[in-house]
Amino acid sequence: MQRPYIVGNWKMNGSRAMLAEARAIDRAAARIAAVEVAIAPPFTLISALGEASTAIAVGAQDCHVAASGAHTGDISAPMLADAGASFVIVGHSERRADHGESDALVRAKAHAALEAGLGAIVCVGETLAEREAGRAEDVVAAQLGGSLPNGETFAALGERLPERLAVAYEPVWAIGTGKVATVADVTAMHAAIRAQLIAAYGEPGSELRILYGGSVNAGNAAALLSAHEVGGALVGGASLTAESFLAIVSAAVRDNE
Ligand code: PGA
Repeated sequence: MQRPYIVGNWKMNGSRAMLAEARAIDRAAARIAAVEVAIAPPFTLISALGEASTAIAVGAQDCHVAASGAHTGDISAPMLADAGASFVIVGHSERRADHGESDALVRAKAHAALEAGLGAIVCVGETLAEREAGRAEDVVAAQLGGSLPNGETFAALGERLPERLAVAYEPVWAIGTGKVATVADVTAMHAAIRAQLIAAYGEPGSELRILYGGSVNAGNAAALLSAHEVGGALVGGASLTAESFLAIVSAAVRDNE
């Protein structure tokens, strides 16, 4: 059984002034060994946050598929590792929407991250129209089928797969909206995702963590984190202050006890 994994996604927010929040999160996380705490700040803060932290992991919100080359404005997975990142979020719905990222591209990014020695959090989630049409599970299954690491990258990971890979289920309509999926909907989706992970990966597929994301806050975290097969949370807005983020980390401790 792995520890609950609580990951803050700062998105395009944060300047050096926010390092104070990160330090406060890090100090608290050092005393909460029962929870694995991580923050994915914008690229510009990865090095500084890495230097300011001892207990939390620092990650990125995206990477390029290539290790280097003529790709103006992009950042590669080996560069992220060099800057002190230990994981990358790939396939977030904002990147899928804003940058037209396909499942195949998301898979290639996950492969690039894993091959650079980083962890990867692969994000999936349906839109409101897809849920209302009764297609939520099919949409998520198709995204997973196209985005999950496979082939040689998967084979090379072997038993380390559950430590290096996580899936985040983030219904698009719940992100940044204050609308949260019901615990019943989350439980049903996570069960479907788990079945697919086991079908794809065998035994390691039963261990890797499936995070929920979408308007997680101090008030709803305990109920969501105690739902079956919810191994943690990917937190946007509520990760931007130590106070609101640590309330979610504390809810994960209670759930774990
Ligand atoms: P939110 O974002 O917590 O602000 O809804 C979650 C996410 O997009 O990862």
